[in-house]
Amino acid sequence: MFKASENLSDRITVNYEEKPCYDIVFSKDFSQITNELKKLNIENRKLCIVTESNVGPLYAEELSEIIKPFCRKVIIHQFEAGEKNKNVNTVNKIYDTLIKNKFDRNDLLLALGGGVTGDITGFAAATYLRGIDFVQIPTTLLAQVDSSIGGKTGVDFEAYKNMVGAFYMPKLVYMNLSTLNSLPKREYLSGMGEVIKHGLIKDKEYFNWLNENKDKIIDRDYTTLKEMLFVSCNIKGRVVENDPKEKGERALLNFGHTVGHAVEKLKDFSLLHGECVAIGMNAACFLSMKKGFISKKEYEKAVETIKMFELPVNTSGIEPREVTEATLNDKKMYSGIIKFILLMDIGNAIISREIAKEDILNSAKRVIVNE
Ligand code: GLY
Repeated sequence: MFKASENLSDRITVNYEEKPCYDIVFSKDFSQITNELKKLNIENRKLCIVTESNVGPLYAEELSEIIKPFCRKVIIHQFEAGEKNKNVNTVNKIYDTLIKNKFDRNDLLLALGGGVTGDITGFAAATYLRGIDFVQIPTTLLAQVDSSIGGKTGVDFEAYKNMVGAFYMPKLVYMNLSTLNSLPKREYLSGMGEVIKHGLIKDKEYFNWLNENKDKIIDRDYTTLKEMLFVSCNIKGRVVENDPKEKGERALLNFGHTVGHAVEKLKDFSLLHGECVAIGMNAACFLSMKKGFISKKEYEKAVETIKMFELPVNTSGIEPREVTEATLNDKKMYSGIIKFILLMDIGNAIISREIAKEDILNSAKRVIVNE
């Protein structure tokens, strides 16, 4: 495990094509952001803060006031919160604002919010004038440990999640950890789905640390959170550095997402993403046990940990058969081969291409409990 508690740094640098590409900066507030933005030479640039209707009223004005003295102009573009707005119409409205305010290739977008905001803003940045710079300022746990890192940007298309998008790296990821205090408990804990995933796929010691520090994590104790974010972002950063375009290792980050995405869609987005990942991780751990890779004890430990963070391990009201069909129709299956991420051990995941439809059905049966 990365020994985070000793000399915890305030940043991690992520490389792209073996060169330093952007920093992930950890801070307790927004006080460091001007110093970080100054490194991007913002004095002659216009900045657009893109945010949504829940996060904007909390932080957009504060952020704008802090940055304003150091750049040419700051504007705020706000869209209506929610996965249902993660589409090209929302991106079109961003283009409209940028055109009306005469943004050119030298200008900059700041994505202030959760995963939806980061993905949409990153996609607008990747495509407006064939690419302008953008900065991620994630305000949810899920966005901080996962979606803000690694340059996956995009929108949903009809019922297909993240169907249209681009790999486009941010210039900076700035995390104000205090924003996590304003999250409703359910949304905060949903992010723990991705955090537990990091332990399960890459780091047994970290997984054990999460168990040992459960109370402090649930209470959002600042020092514990900083350590957790540092380790999780380091795991995510190293994986995307090794495989930025998901040709291999990056697929490990999809652990729990195969069944998870199907559940998310079939439950009509009534469950949060991290909750669906938690259910999907139960399915994937169960399959790992059935294949003889992990023991019953390890399977039970994984499920117990997921439950410990008040995340669901099963759901109802949908059919295992539907989950299997939705999984097979997922865009990641277009080559006709199911890529399923399994555990060989806690902290050691593999990409398996030897999973049959029957296996998926059995794992779905484990996590769908209808009366
Ligand atoms: N969220 C998974 C990835 O960034 O690859």
